[in-house]
Amino acid sequence: MNKKIWAIVAMLGLMYIVFLQMDIEASSQIQEKELNLKQPNLTQQLAFIAFLNTIDDAHDTKLIAIRQHEATHIPLYNLQEIRKPTDFIIQQEIVEPQEKPDEVVREKKKIALTFDDGPHPVVTEKILAVLLQNDIKATFFVLGQNVGKYPQIVHQAAKQGHEIANHSWSHANFTKLSGTQITAELEQTNEAIYKASGKYPNLYRPPYGATNANVRGQTSMEAVMWSVDTMDWKHRTPEKTLAYVKEQVKDNGIILMHDIHSETADSLEAVINYLIEQDYEFVTASELLKLQS
Ligand code: NI
Repeated sequence: MNKKIWAIVAMLGLMYIVFLQMDIEASSQIQEKELNLKQPNLTQQLAFIAFLNTIDDAHDTKLIAIRQHEATHIPLYNLQEIRKPTDFIIQQEIVEPQEKPDEVVREKKKIALTFDDGPHPVVTEKILAVLLQNDIKATFFVLGQNVGKYPQIVHQAAKQGHEIANHSWSHANFTKLSGTQITAELEQTNEAIYKASGKYPNLYRPPYGATNANVRGQTSMEAVMWSVDTMDWKHRTPEKTLAYVKEQVKDNGIILMHDIHSETADSLEAVINYLIEQDYEFVTASELLKLQS
């Protein structure tokens, strides 16, 4: 063969190689074709969902519309590179808020210990010691005539952070008194409490819990009764006091006891331990009323 033929063969070969190269480039360009979102296949749909979820605010419909428009101009293999659909599923599981029931903050049950008819020179002191030891604040519904006799005990109780409240001067039945007499019973006691503690009381408890519209109309002070009657004055038995508490105690309860009987002081430690065990928080009568309003 002569040189001309060789030259033609070489030229054809070269052209063939160039043609092949062009074909390779052309085929890679085909792979880069844009998404057809009018008729997407399953892979395209999953890739598109994954793409939308790479942005935090994927729930913004306007933004999704913009992204959808952008997505139609992104080559499919780019979309798949951004995130595989399975990655999205794993990510969503992590983001899912994990609520542990143990960590839910529970509001503690509230209970108010109240002591009537004191102050008493021995029993009230004992009770104050137990309360101090347990860091508990209680409410003392004092009789004005006893405050006059033992003002230093009322002073000490107030200093320890206990609430001092009014239980009349002479433990009279208010429903059998005139308006003037009721006012005198309450006001004299208020003055005695102020003299002993430096503070006027906000609350009163009518003796025997005896009250009516006439009694209520005599004062702007708030009346406080009770929800747990320990009957401590009657049975004088610490075990029975505890049993009454166990039987009647409820959230936002007010326990009635009397700080004039030594058996009541003897029962207090067990009553407090039981209430702590039952997850109660001790509050004063005023604090309890404030929580309920
Ligand atoms: Ni009383």
